[in-house]
Amino acid sequence: MDGLRLTDEERAMLAGEHGHGVRRAMEMVIALARIYGATELVPIKSAQVAGVSYANIGDAGLEFLRQWADEGARVRVPAMLNPAGMDLLAWREMGTPEPFATKQLEVVEAYQHMGVLPTCTCAPYLLERCAGLGDHLAWSESSAVAYANSVLGARTNREGGPGALAAAIVGRTGCYGLHTDPARCPTELFEIAVAPASASDWGALGAIIGRASRGVPYLRFSGHAVQTVADLAAADLRDGMRALGAAAAATGSVALFHLEGVTPEVRLGQVAAPTGEAQVVESLAPAYSLLDGEVEALDLVAIGCPHASLEQLETVSRFLEGRRAAIPLWLTVSRAVAERARASGLAESLEAQGARLVADTCVVVAPMREMGVGAVATDSAKAASYLPGHQGVQTRFGPLERCLEAALRGTWQ
Ligand code: F3S
Repeated sequence: MDGLRLTDEERAMLAGEHGHGVRRAMEMVIALARIYGATELVPIKSAQVAGVSYANIGDAGLEFLRQWADEGARVRVPAMLNPAGMDLLAWREMGTPEPFATKQLEVVEAYQHMGVLPTCTCAPYLLERCAGLGDHLAWSESSAVAYANSVLGARTNREGGPGALAAAIVGRTGCYGLHTDPARCPTELFEIAVAPASASDWGALGAIIGRASRGVPYLRFSGHAVQTVADLAAADLRDGMRALGAAAAATGSVALFHLEGVTPEVRLGQVAAPTGEAQVVESLAPAYSLLDGEVEALDLVAIGCPHASLEQLETVSRFLEGRRAAIPLWLTVSRAVAERARASGLAESLEAQGARLVADTCVVVAPMREMGVGAVATDSAKAASYLPGHQGVQTRFGPLERCLEAALRGTWQ
């Protein structure tokens, strides 16, 4: 006998009283809860579902989704989609192969049939207040999970796509792992003596932490870095922590970090620094030499991994003022951020500067090789760590300004 207690409503879902699709979802949620030793399920506030790009899920995944939808499965909490394999509106002009596009649209349609919102972003937390301190969630995308847990103080494990969808359908998930207090306690101390000066530096730091961490890292800036970080504008600090979490999750298995004086569970005294010797980070150079390749001639510059904020788009536009990119410059964003940029006139300025706002997708999940892209520069440590292996694309990694200079010239120097 296991110790998982179910409410009457949960039993009814499991018994099929809410339909076949709900029973299938409840079976999945319960199986996971049992594997991880949960004693109860907790209601979730939202779900964020990965497994959207047709390049990743293929026909088998599409069939699975259709079947589940046909069984009557519908989400009962707000559920959002991770990026798809293409811009859902501008795919033709971007050169997405038509057979791929047709299948991709069918995948999104199957999700929509179940009530999942086609947000197609890895940064749903930029859209609205979809998660806050102590909220239980079932999110999939690793960078969003790291951000939700660490910066928002919400509680989510890193769910697989089907697990997140199942949780959305029953409105619950097993109370285990990062939903519980003990698993949120920091296990290792990192002392950081270098102040990140750009999003790529934050990502480089994340890559170092991700490779070194075996649990929940507690980060403490030391020396002059403390004041430098304290002086950052709120949006820069937020975007820095986005880059850090994304890289730490991509290069390791970090789903939660605590940053002294900054992240909510530290500020509220809910967690304390671990005792014992700190691992000291004195330089970000090892991450740059690991992630930066050697190619010089570029096909594309990609900014916006995780999906860019409005503030990041403004920074790009300021830098490019009076100049124009010589090669494709993708700024990957959620559709909601793209629409805000359009409404404010920012999108128009960026387009005049040769940039393209690319919504719903990113360079890691779009079929880049089929689109003729073999060499990319990015300021994202996460993208730089995935592109060579996932896409077979040669990659340069560096600060935003250096990437934009490369877009103006077409080469990395
Ligand atoms: Fe998002 Fe794609 Fe990067 S899903 S975190 S932009 S790899």
